[in-house]
This record gives sequence, structure tokens and C-alpha cells, in this order.
Amino acid sequence: MQIETVAVIGGGQMGNGIAHVCAQSGLNVRMVDLTSDAVERGLETISRNMDRQVKKGRMTAEEKEAALARIQTFTDPTEAAPGAQLIVEAIPERPELKYELFASLDEAADPDTILASNTSSISITEIASRTQRPGKVIGMHFMNPVPVMQLVEVIRGLATDDATTETVMELARALGKTPVEVNDFPGFVSNRILLPMINEAVFALMEGVAEVEAIDTVMKLGMNHPMGPLALADLIGLDTCLSILEVLHRDLGDDRYRPCPLLRKYVAAGWLGRKSGRGFYSYDG
Ligand code: CAA
Ligand code: NAD
Repeated sequence: MQIETVAVIGGGQMGNGIAHVCAQSGLNVRMVDLTSDAVERGLETISRNMDRQVKKGRMTAEEKEAALARIQTFTDPTEAAPGAQLIVEAIPERPELKYELFASLDEAADPDTILASNTSSISITEIASRTQRPGKVIGMHFMNPVPVMQLVEVIRGLATDDATTETVMELARALGKTPVEVNDFPGFVSNRILLPMINEAVFALMEGVAEVEAIDTVMKLGMNHPMGPLALADLIGLDTCLSILEVLHRDLGDDRYRPCPLLRKYVAAGWLGRKSGRGFYSYDG
């Protein structure tokens, strides 16, 4: 299927990144968030991130303006759905929110529209079961920051059909990304492996093995990771990290995935990382 128009539901850090790369590749984009303030913030972030690319000579100022002009904004997902060949959901990592959204998108979207989720961990098979089109529901998992990261993890639910998978793999390539197909298990490949490492770093901090900067420096300089696990947790969002660990813990039924109590405490305090200005590090100014 030819994808010309993509609706992105959620204009937060992942949603605006997905809208950014789709618009940059020439697609018509409909970016949806709950309020006009939220979609405005998403658009401003896209504009700022495109400015970096313009400064680096990777995009011209005219290309930036043309890409921004391809993005329409909405505050109601059901209004953005009709006429889109693909809908990519990027709302918070909470199962009930996603189930409800997919049920309403299923009613509002055209019958052939592919419904993709950018979920980090939640079962694609279960999301698909909330719709009448499980063959056309798939995971399209972009990495943060979307304009920079190469990977798109493509997750097939139990019922996802071959044509849907092929269309999404092709689109990821057209966006300049490298898609990797995986099966539907909690956390898929990426977060099944990444989140236990982040959780262990928080345990190391809680148990006094070392301070924040020391833990991150060991992993950066010792393992050549581009950023330490605690800084990465702040980038992802500590609320999102906790939600992913809760899915791994519950759905794999193994205590090795139990979220560290210190992570829970930070989330309870509203210390969510970069997005709230404070996490393991402080982001004042
Ligand atoms: N939009 C556009 N460009 C961006 C950008 C953005 N949001 N963020 C950074 N960049 C660009 C910069 O302009 C810069 O470009 P050049 O290479 O041309 O100079 C480049 O990316 C590197 O940025 P910086 O120089 O500012 O900073 P850096 O070298 O420290 O790199 C980083 C920043 C790319 C974030 C790097 O630290 C990194 O790769 N970190 C690890 C990120 C990671 O692991 N992501 C996965 C998270 S897990 C996930 O996404 C899945 C999940 O479900 C939770
Ligand atoms: P975020 O909190 O930055 O953004 C979520 C956005 O969705 C917010 O702007 C919120 O207002 C909006 N929203 C909430 N309910 C909505 C609804 N019903 N309709 C429209 N908009 C709605 O979160 P994020 O970090 O962008 O994460 C979004 C999804 O992407 C999650 O499933 C997360 O697990 C996944 N993900 C996150 C990362 C990461 O590093 N943060 C990486 C890959 C995947």
C-alpha cells in the first residue's frame, strides 16, 4: 500500500520526532495531542530540531519550511484518522489508554488503514484484539531521539498480516531508518535488554555502590555507551521506564524485572527526568 498521509497520535517527545521524520520525507502528517497548547509545543520542538539540521547543512531552510507546511495539527484523534493510510500511536505507556484509543481509531479510520503503536513494551497482540482489524495492527517502535536514531523495531502481533508488515518495513526504509522485525513478547528485544540494565543502575545507586555520575561514567568510558544508564533513563522519562518495567515484571512473571523502589520514589515525586526538569540529574535552564 502507498502511504501518503500519516496521522501521529501524541505530540510528545516521540510523537513529534515521528512527525518530524515523516514530514521531512515528504509525507503529509497529521499530528494530534490533547490540547492546542500541546500540539503547539510539539511543532516548536520539531522546528528547533530541524534548525539543528539546517545549521549542519543536512537540510535547507526552504526544505524545513516545506516540511513544516506538511504538518497539520488536531486535538481529536478521530478527526485526524479518516483519509490517513497509516496511524502511529505515541501516547503514554499505559495499557488502558492505548486499548481505548485503538478501539476508537478502529471505528474512525478507513477500513484499509494500518494502525501502528510506538509502544515500548505493551503486547501488540492485545492492543490488536481491541480492534476489528488485528491483521492491520503492528508495532512500529522508533528510538529516542527519533531524527537521530537508525533503528525501527517492527513488531508483529500474533495476527499481523504479511502485507501490513511489508508496508511498515518499506516505510521505515523510506524514512532513512533500518527496520528490524521481531515477535511480540514483553519489551520486544530493545527494552527486554535495555530496561534491566537501567533498573540495575538504579539499584546500584540505591544501594550506595556509587554516585550518579560515577555509575554513568563507568558505563560511558568502560563500555563505550554514548550516555550512561541514568542519563539515558532521564532522556527516556522515568515514568516511561517504570511503566516498561511493570509490563516486563507482570507479563514475564519473573522477579528479576521488579522495578527498583528508588525509581518508583522518583516517579512518585514527579521527578520524571528531562521532561520535568529533574530526574537523576537536574535540568534547570
Ligand atoms: N533532533 C535532531 N537532531 C538531534 C537531536 C534531535 N532531537 N538530538 C541530537 N541531534 C543531533 C545533533 O545535532 C548532533 O548532530 P551531529 O552528529 O551532526 O553533530 C547529533 O545528534 C549528536 O547530538 P549532540 O552532539 O547534541 O549530543 P551527543 O553527541 O551527546 O548525542 C545522543 C546525543 C544522540 C542522544 C547520544 O547521546 C545517544 O545516542 N544517546 C543514546 C540514545 C539512546 O540510547 N536512545 C535509545 C533510548 S531507548 C528507546 O528509545 C526505546 C524505548 O522504548 C525507551
Ligand atoms: P510523552 O509523555 O513525551 O508524550 C505523550 C503525549 O501523548 C503527551 O503530549 C500527551 O499529552 C499525549 N496524549 C496523551 N493521551 C493522548 C490521547 N488520547 N490522544 C492524543 N494525545 C495524547 O511520551 P513519549 O516519551 O513520547 O512516549 C510515547 C510512547 O512512545 C510511549 O508508549 C513510550 O513508551 C514510547 N516510547 C518512548 C521512548 C522514549 O524514549 N521516551 C522511546 C520509544 C518509545
